[in-house]
Amino acid sequence: MTAVTVRVPAKVNLQLAVGPAREDGYHDLVNVFHAVSLFDEVTVTPGEPGSGRGPVSLSIDGEIGSRAADVPLDASNLAAKAARLLARETGAGGPVRIHLRKAIPVAGGMAGGSADAAATLVACDTLWGTGVPREELLRLAAELGSDVPFPLVGGTAVGTGRGERLAPVPCRGRFHWVFALAEAGLSTASVFAEYDRLRPDAPRPRLDDDLVAALAAGDARALGAALSNDLERAAFSLRPRLRDVLTTGRRAGALGAIVSGSGPTCAFLAADETAAAEVAAALDGSGRCARTVRAHGDVPGTTVVG
Ligand code: C5P
Repeated sequence: MTAVTVRVPAKVNLQLAVGPAREDGYHDLVNVFHAVSLFDEVTVTPGEPGSGRGPVSLSIDGEIGSRAADVPLDASNLAAKAARLLARETGAGGPVRIHLRKAIPVAGGMAGGSADAAATLVACDTLWGTGVPREELLRLAAELGSDVPFPLVGGTAVGTGRGERLAPVPCRGRFHWVFALAEAGLSTASVFAEYDRLRPDAPRPRLDDDLVAALAAGDARALGAALSNDLERAAFSLRPRLRDVLTTGRRAGALGAIVSGSGPTCAFLAADETAAAEVAAALDGSGRCARTVRAHGDVPGTTVVG
């Protein structure tokens, strides 16, 4: 086999309930992930032995413009770590080149880095013929980061623990989303730190029954009303202008508006494609975000496409 390409979706959090900080520094979460049709593609090819570039080399292109510079292309990249972890666990592999074709915003609260790591696990497993069982891939993914298991599964799922223990959530129909992307990213760790400062006495997180019912019924209006994100206040605190972005989308008819994960991407749920186009046009015309992208959910997780 000479090359494997894996397509992987971004996520938006429909509910992100955050408990108090744990002793290990992480937070217990109830995190409802929803995979949307905004995809990165990861291609792995065997590297040249003795090329002097180490066992893993990385390159990048895509629709992320100047933000490509924010993606580390050294050993600290989560995709590079994924390849090394799989090689170590299976004893297989060899030098490998990883090419990231990015559409998911960098440091945008849509788990783009986690998506690339999940795709790399699947791509290298296929390239090397290691046939790692799914449960084991999920375990390796969780070792890489709390958001890495979900893109392997896709659809809609609730994550508990650090967010890495997944159970599927039934989701009917198709939901239409608009995402307002920011010029500069936010670090997940700093948003959680700000959350701890603002909310030292956070209660235990609980799954929202109304949200689950809205998803099962395919009811966009009810889903819009049920969207919630405990990290939103912390994201506003670090980036006050995000409030204006949400207001702009709501005034343009969005059924729900929320910061995605730790932000700064803002997500808007629309009734249908026409409404989504109106919300996107209002956001693009407002000058309050760098640009918008439209997507639908949910969609499947990592898929080998070539
Ligand atoms: O797991 P991951 O490395 O993606 O998490 C990035 C950062 O987000 C962590 O270092 C931590 O600061 C924060 N985090 C958290 N609680 C979680 C998940 C992430 O505090 N459940």
